[in-house]
Amino acid sequence: MRAPAKILMFAIIFQSAVVAPAMAQQYSAIDTNIQPLSNKICATCHGAYGKGNAVVGAPSLAGLESWYLRAQLIKFRDSMRGIQKDYIPGHEMRAAVAEMSEAEMDGVIASIGTWDSQPSATTVSGDAVRGAELYSNCAACHGVSAAGNQALGAPGLAGRDDWYLRRQLKLFQSGYRGEHPEDLAGAQMRAAAKLLESDQDINDVLVHINSLN
Ligand code: HEC
Ligand code: HEC
Repeated sequence: MRAPAKILMFAIIFQSAVVAPAMAQQYSAIDTNIQPLSNKICATCHGAYGKGNAVVGAPSLAGLESWYLRAQLIKFRDSMRGIQKDYIPGHEMRAAVAEMSEAEMDGVIASIGTWDSQPSATTVSGDAVRGAELYSNCAACHGVSAAGNQALGAPGLAGRDDWYLRRQLKLFQSGYRGEHPEDLAGAQMRAAAKLLESDQDINDVLVHINSLN
């Protein structure tokens, strides 16, 4: 294992060791004043007010649609996402919400809804013209301006950190996301991700999505 990966793994294991017991305790003790809790627990990885933290691979949460947040929290909690032990970021995220009740979920989602979305990271370069062509395969679900479509369960993609979107596309392609039999939305996206045949395709389509911010 390369040194940076080792350090990252250590950092995540260290954080979860500190976070998990504290979280279980606070979740059981608190039922109304959930705002400081969600901020504190989630901020450990997702940064203050959900602005994202590329070092631990945790995306920005501020600005995510409440229905999409709920769908993903349920998938992590109910072991439909993040089950593979060798995909540490997803596995850690799953552990973070494994004990979450419906009421706690409502509180966390309400808190995140009050956080201002942050400028996203643009790290990818590629061919915007090809990207726009490739994106025609995505628009049916995510919308022409990548604003998302709740009826189809497809989140907004414009304004998101491209390093995170790139990783998710690869996770869908490799079957690490969207392979659980009950994850129907994930299965649809998995099929769509396979339309991107190379890393260059992924970069190009992300350059187009970045242009829609
Ligand atoms: C131990 C670190 C850690 C903690 C604590 C944590 N997360 Fe995460 N979270 C992650 C990582 C890493 C990912 C990216 C997983 C992936 O690559 O699939 C993630 C992904 C997510 C996603 C999916 C976003 C998307 O676009 O699909 C949501 C939603 C989320 N976290 C919400 C939360 C909330 C709410 C909390 C607090 C209750 C929280 N997380 C606590 C590390 C963490
Ligand atoms: C058939 C509808 C459909 C098509 C076509 C589609 N998607 Fe998706 N996409 C979804 C759904 C539904 C989800 C949410 C999956 C889930 O709930 O886990 C999603 C999720 C994603 C995510 C993860 C976002 C996050 O926050 O983790 C990315 C990235 C993405 N899509 C990019 C694309 C790109 C790029 C294309 C075109 C190549 C595309 N999608 C085509 C339906 C679609």
